[in-house]
Amino acid sequence: MIKALTALIYSMFIFAINGLSTPHKAYRGNIWAMFAMGTAILWGLYELNPEYLAPTITALTAGALTGIIAAHKISMPNLPQMIALLNGLGGLAAGLIGITETSNADYHPLLLLFIISIGFITFTGSIAAFLKLAGTRLLISKDTLQAVSLIVLVLTVISGFYAYNNSSEYLWGFIVLLSLWGLLFILPIGGADMPIIISILNSFSGWSTVLVGFSFNNTLLIIVGTLIGASGTILSYIMTKAMNRSLRKVIFSPPQTITDDIPNENKTIHQGSPQDAAFLMENANKVIIVPGYGMAAAGAQHELANMAKILKNKYKVDVKFAIHPVAGRMPGHMNVLLAEADINPDDVFELKDINQEFQTADVAYVIGANDTTNPLAKTKSDSPIYQMPILEVEQARKVLFAKRSLAAGYSGIDNPLFYADNTLMLLGDAKEVTKQIVANLEE
Ligand code: TAP
Repeated sequence: MIKALTALIYSMFIFAINGLSTPHKAYRGNIWAMFAMGTAILWGLYELNPEYLAPTITALTAGALTGIIAAHKISMPNLPQMIALLNGLGGLAAGLIGITETSNADYHPLLLLFIISIGFITFTGSIAAFLKLAGTRLLISKDTLQAVSLIVLVLTVISGFYAYNNSSEYLWGFIVLLSLWGLLFILPIGGADMPIIISILNSFSGWSTVLVGFSFNNTLLIIVGTLIGASGTILSYIMTKAMNRSLRKVIFSPPQTITDDIPNENKTIHQGSPQDAAFLMENANKVIIVPGYGMAAAGAQHELANMAKILKNKYKVDVKFAIHPVAGRMPGHMNVLLAEADINPDDVFELKDINQEFQTADVAYVIGANDTTNPLAKTKSDSPIYQMPILEVEQARKVLFAKRSLAAGYSGIDNPLFYADNTLMLLGDAKEVTKQIVANLEE
C-alpha cells in the first residue's frame, strides 16, 4: 500500500514537471503538482500520531492562509522576490527539523549539522536574494563584504567543529554565524547573476529536503527533494550557459564599478511618438517584439497582445516574440506574462531560434527590455553582462525602444542602441505607449 501510494505521488510529480516544461501544458502541470502535494499532505496526516493532529492542522491552515493571501497580494513584477522567499522557507523548514532532532541519539550529529547548514544558508541566502531583487543598494563595498564573509566563514567552520564535539552549547553560535555567512556570501554577487543564484538556492532547498528524507527514512521526501534539487541544478546549468557565465565567475568575481564608455556628446537620441511607431509597424512585413522587465513592471502584456493581434489580422504583418533566457527577473518571467495575455506560444521564440531573424525584420519593438539587447555585452569586459548572449535587435531596419527614460537596466550600464541612427525612442510607460500605438493602429 505504502509503495503504491509513493509511486502514485511520485508519478504525479513527474507529470507535473513534464507539464511545466512547455507553456502549452503548464496549466495541466500545475494541476498535477497540486494533486501530488495534496495527496502527500493527506497521507502525512493519516500517518500522523493523533496527538499531533490538532497542532499540525493549525499550522497547515495558518501556512495555507498566508500562502493564499500572499499569492493574491503579490503583483506580477514582484513574483521573483516571492519565489526567492519561498525557496528560503523550504531551507528554514529543513534547518528547524535538523535542530529539533539534535537531542535524538538515533541520528548522526554530522548529518544533522549538514541539514542545519544547508537549511539556514538557503534561508538567509534567499533573504539576501530577495533584498537584491527588491533593488536594495549595498552601503558597504563589495570587496569589504567579501573580506568579512571570509572571516565569518572561518569562524563558522570553527564553531561547527565545537558544535559537533560539544553539541548543544555551541549549536546556536554556529547557527547565527552560518546564517550571517549565508547573507554575506550572496549580497556581493552581481545583480545580473541573481537568476543563477536563485536557481542554485532553489536546488539547495531540494537537497536539504533530501537530507531530511534520508535522516527520517522517508522515501517521499527523498524523491520529491531529489526532483527539486535536480531540476534546480539543471536550471542553474542552463542559466549559466545562457548568460555565458561560469559558476566560479558568478561567485568569486562580482562586477566592479562600471565605467561609462559612451561620450556625452554622442548621447543624442531620435525620439518618436506612438503614431510614428504605429505607422512603421503597420507598413512592415515582419515585426519582432522583445519584451523585458519594463513590460512586466508596467503590466503591458494585454496591450501588447492586442497590438500583435491587430498587426496580424488587420495589416497582415508577420509578428513574432523574442524571449531572452534572463529577460525580466525570474526564469520564464516573460513566458508566464505572454501566456497570461493569451499570446499563442507558437509565436514565441527563444533567443537561439530567433536571433538570425532580426536581419530580415523591418521593426524590432523593444518593450521594457534593456540589458538583454545591449551590444556592450560583447565588448565591455568590466560589465556584469560581459559575454552574455544578447538579442541582436540592432540588425532590424528600425528599432523602437518603449521605456520611460534613458535609464540603465538591472546591470546598471548604459545602452548605446538608444543613440543609434536606426533607433526611435518611445519615451513613456510601456503600457501607456502600447495603448496609444493600438489606438493609432485601430484608426
Ligand atoms: P532590464 O535590463 O532590467 O531593463 C528594464 C528596463 O525597463 C529599464 O531600463 C527601465 O527603463 C524599463 N522600465 C521599467 N519600468 C518601466 C515601465 N513601467 N515602462 C517602460 N519601461 C520600464 O530588463 P531586461 O532586458 O529584461 O534584462 C533583465 C535583467 O535582469 C538582466 O540584467 C538579468 O540578468 C537581470 N535579472 C534577470 C533575472 C531573470 S531570471 N530573468 C533575475 C534577476 C535579474 P526606464 O526606467 O527608463 O523606464
